[in-house]
Amino acid sequence: MKNYIFCVIIFFAFICHQVKANDDKYHPVVLWHGMGDTCCNPESIGKIREFIQTSLPGIYVYSIMIGDDEEEDKKAGFFGNVNQQVSKVCEKLKNDENLRNGFNAIGFSQGGQFIRAYVQRCNDPPVHNLITMGAQHAGVSELPGCEKTDGLCRLMNNVASHGVYSEFVRKRLIQAQYFKDPRNIETYLAKNIFLPDINNELTFKNKTYAKNLASLNKFVMIRFTEDITVRPRDSSWFSFYDEEGNLIPLQEQKIYKEDWIGLKELNNSGKLLFKDCETSHMQFDLDYFLQEVILPYLSDVNQKNLFTIQN
Ligand SMILES: *[C@@H]1O[C@H](CO)[C@@H](O)[C@H](O)[C@H]1NC(C)=O
Ligand SMILES: *[C@@H]1O[C@H](CO)[C@@H](O)[C@H](O)[C@H]1NC(C)=O
Repeated sequence: MKNYIFCVIIFFAFICHQVKANDDKYHPVVLWHGMGDTCCNPESIGKIREFIQTSLPGIYVYSIMIGDDEEEDKKAGFFGNVNQQVSKVCEKLKNDENLRNGFNAIGFSQGGQFIRAYVQRCNDPPVHNLITMGAQHAGVSELPGCEKTDGLCRLMNNVASHGVYSEFVRKRLIQAQYFKDPRNIETYLAKNIFLPDINNELTFKNKTYAKNLASLNKFVMIRFTEDITVRPRDSSWFSFYDEEGNLIPLQEQKIYKEDWIGLKELNNSGKLLFKDCETSHMQFDLDYFLQEVILPYLSDVNQKNLFTIQN
């Protein structure tokens, strides 16, 4: 009898443990905000974070902050070195216990190409679904415009007017690090410190980039059809201008045909998704976000958590 009771107790302890493990049934989510924004702005990413938490109770959401406070974080969206920022993010995410079984990631605007760089360069812990909204994956042919009231943005534009490829600017101005002049690709390849590397456009192709990106469960690329902030808006789908200014879709580019970063492999297995959101840059509403992002890509159960006993 004693043994029997003991077994029952062990059994229930086991069940309780399983139920506890089930509590974090959703993959955690990591957000990387866009230019002019911060990790926690209650008008934008802060609101999105809260909305995800209300929609999927118990989910862990981590919003990336560069630097030690929101002010530094906002500045870091204009000034700094993206390569260093990505390395710091790799370190932070690796050290977060809540993320150790992997996570879903959403990058907003320039945060889209930056979080993709995390996947390609680090991916430890690994990203399950990657969603980018209005990202500039193929670069921008013009620097983004600024609202009159945005002093930091206007400062960025002023600094840039001294030449995006000058030594001083290209290492310190974030937007210069994904600027691509279609009429001057040689200079771009030689001088841009971020985008040619992350898109494997240089002579040396880093195979890890392709391997890591192709390991995603889904890569969802959302383009804003009315976007006038990003030129071309189709950069969200990796389309870009040729020398004559014609827009060349991804599948006609070498990055795809020679599969420099794993996009072809993803597409061939139905994991690369091209989506449109019919609004201007980042002007989607929460209902769109619920129907098109949260429910299809964030609400699946984290299988890895289900049957592992956590110690
Ligand atoms: C390729 O990328 C990986 C991941 O970032 C890095 O560890 C490795 O050093 C790179 N290889 C070369 C030869 O640069
Ligand atoms: C991706 O694959 C689909 C078929 O699954 C194909 O119709 C489409 O053209 C491919 N996209 C690209 C960019 O090649």
